[in-house]
Amino acid sequence: LRHLTTLENLPRETIERLLDKANSLRDQSAHGTRKLDILAGRTVLNLFFEPSTRTRTSFELAARRMGADVINFDIALSSSSKGEELFDTLHTLEAMHLDAIIVRHKVSGTPEELVKHAMSGVSVVNAGDGNRAHPTQGLLDALTIRNHHPDFRKLKVAICGDVRHSRVARSDVHVLTAMGAKDVRIVGPSRLLPTEGEFKGVTLHEDFDEAIQGVDVVIMLRLQKERMASTDLPDEAAYFERYGLDTRRLARAAKGALVMHPGPINRGIEIAPEVADGAQSRILEQVGNGVFVRMAVLCEVMGR
Ligand code: CP
Repeated sequence: LRHLTTLENLPRETIERLLDKANSLRDQSAHGTRKLDILAGRTVLNLFFEPSTRTRTSFELAARRMGADVINFDIALSSSSKGEELFDTLHTLEAMHLDAIIVRHKVSGTPEELVKHAMSGVSVVNAGDGNRAHPTQGLLDALTIRNHHPDFRKLKVAICGDVRHSRVARSDVHVLTAMGAKDVRIVGPSRLLPTEGEFKGVTLHEDFDEAIQGVDVVIMLRLQKERMASTDLPDEAAYFERYGLDTRRLARAAKGALVMHPGPINRGIEIAPEVADGAQSRILEQVGNGVFVRMAVLCEVMGR
């Protein structure tokens, strides 16, 4: 892969190779405590037009732990804030020589546009575009699940919350179906579900108590208020009552079901604090795996 903009149509073998590579880099780097020099002399640019804690930091750590130089582009202090167009910014940065650009943008399709307009051999990695794709989140979610449940053919997964506005849900569905997951249930109020037929190989549900029954993995999503009209915002208490994950509801899932969330979490809105911090929560494990998955992706796109 020269670029990673989406997981849609990515073959299972490529996904498995990236997940294997992530585990191998975890071991080679002694869980990130030993620095590697695989990307020495390479330069990676973090170009984030939307806020991020996990993705931006983990890409930076991933690149630095393999010896690359990292530039964190500060949008607020850049000439973008003076009206410079995206592709002029791209060409300006490329003129300084870059090997990879990690981009997050509110407009769906921006990573592909950068690929089209890039003039150098720079690799583009999508760190989240609009509601469309967040491929490294999908990969780190798959890695977290695979480390507990190696055989996806037996796997039942519920993805619950604001699926309509979620790029994570889209990438999770792409990776889960590519990996052959047996049963993927998409859950939420009708106005936050994807349109009928948009997602292939999944079932849509409005009743969370019913849909969570017997699942091995529950992936909770936050309400993406920044992508909703104010009139679409649900009452938070009523939302938690029907779609929040609390201990009572979690007890309906399979014994020891994994609780996942891409973050940031909103305690008491989509997940109860005792579940987010409970024994079944894999939320911080997801964050840790994010660094190794991003190391694997950077190696892949830069041909290492
Ligand atoms: N999961 C995720 O994309 O988190 P950040 O917005 O903090 O990067």
